[in-house]
Amino acid sequence: MCNVINFYINGCQYKLPIVYGTFCEKAINISKLRENTGFITLDPGFKNTGITKSSISYIDGEKGILLYRGYPIEEIINKCSFIETSYLLLNGELPNPTQLKFFSEKIKKYNHVSQDIHKILDKYPVFYHPMGILSSLTCILRSFITTKKNDNNNHVKEQDLFLHLLAKFPILAALTYRKKVGLPPSYADKNLDYPSNLLKMFFSTNKKKYDEFNPVIIDALDKLLILHAEHEQNCSTTTVRLLSSAHSGLFSSVSAGICALWGRLHGGANEAVIEMLENILKSGKNVKKWIEMAKNKKNSFRLMGFGHRIYKNFDPRAKIIENIAEKVIRELGINNPILELAKELEDIVMNDSYFLEKKLYPNIDFYSGIIYQAIGIPKNMFTVMFALGRLPGWMAHWKEMRLNREPIGRPRQIYVGYKKRKIRN
Ligand code: SDX
Repeated sequence: MCNVINFYINGCQYKLPIVYGTFCEKAINISKLRENTGFITLDPGFKNTGITKSSISYIDGEKGILLYRGYPIEEIINKCSFIETSYLLLNGELPNPTQLKFFSEKIKKYNHVSQDIHKILDKYPVFYHPMGILSSLTCILRSFITTKKNDNNNHVKEQDLFLHLLAKFPILAALTYRKKVGLPPSYADKNLDYPSNLLKMFFSTNKKKYDEFNPVIIDALDKLLILHAEHEQNCSTTTVRLLSSAHSGLFSSVSAGICALWGRLHGGANEAVIEMLENILKSGKNVKKWIEMAKNKKNSFRLMGFGHRIYKNFDPRAKIIENIAEKVIRELGINNPILELAKELEDIVMNDSYFLEKKLYPNIDFYSGIIYQAIGIPKNMFTVMFALGRLPGWMAHWKEMRLNREPIGRPRQIYVGYKKRKIRN
């Protein structure tokens, strides 16, 4: 394998080093390009640009492969819990029983929030989107985490901050949901595992005790959290890395990642998919009309839940989620026209040359909302559920950026504005 690339600009020869990844992905290291040639590169959307070297996850978009710290997602989903997966992403290895016990017990020790958070939540306008609430509460949450000594620089060990956030994030989500539906807070129970606590904090009422929750639902929720946990340099994770490069704190960096995920082209797509499917049903299920609309460049409509920057084959997570959706719908005995429509739409799209030529397959957001809806989670909370899953991935990248001591992220640009001019008197 060659280690340098030779190229010529205006007759001068230049050399740049080539970098190879674990699976021989290749990159031209252009960190000295401008210094040596006066050129920069231009790549809107970073479609061809690597911003770092990372060991957290690996995606092969052509083969539909996703590894978390080297383990295939298909293995993790069947052999690990979300808490074990979070430990793996943060620490690089799966926990042994002692490590898992310590990690889980710390999360249970930290699974409460200050009553001041409840008071702040009461001040939000009722129509404010849950992702906006989650982002702002996450940012302010750090100020309520203090050391016993209450030393003024409030230095809390970094490992503890990860555990505080893992423990408190679902509480913020559940409090936001219950406020929106007019329910009083339901608190975590130290005897419950992570997904069961999530369901309890969301849905427990005097009538419906949490121990009534169906084990199929608990398992489905844990698997959804795992499938959303990490996905290398997606928009929100790169946002978190960028803030980490500026030495922004963990909580403020995650708060920014939440806002990036909120975008409808990114994590907000899961909410948009259900809205789209409901609109197709309402408009008389004329699926072909909607597909033609998505292909027509004259309008901005796209088939939400289809297409991916990296997967040019199937998204391995989408296949797993489709099976989970069928199992949950079957278990709950729901006659769900949305699931039937989703499968019908997928069948038609997967036989349409436009989508096949552009390699637009269902992505993780296409079926996930169907499961959330079946569990009883409202549409405007779907992306919050995505964020709950993505948290360990965001934290692992924030940590890796700091460990690698990478420089602050500050890209260049090509200026195309006015030439220098004077203000007319
Ligand atoms: C997530 O990056 C990650 O890892 C993200 C994620 C994660 O785990 O973090 O996987 C989660 O964000 C999944 C994606 C969720 N978003 C959606 O489902 C929204 C719908 N999909 C698209 O908007 C789009 O496919 C993106 C945003 C996902 C990817 O966009 P790209 O890579 O910038 O591709 P593009 O917009 O340049 O599209 C290429 C072509 C275009 O046509 P041409 O200009 O070449 O003629 O494909 C067309 C697009 O018009 N196209 C679609 C389409 N997606 C792309 N046409 C119709 N419907 C679509 N959904």
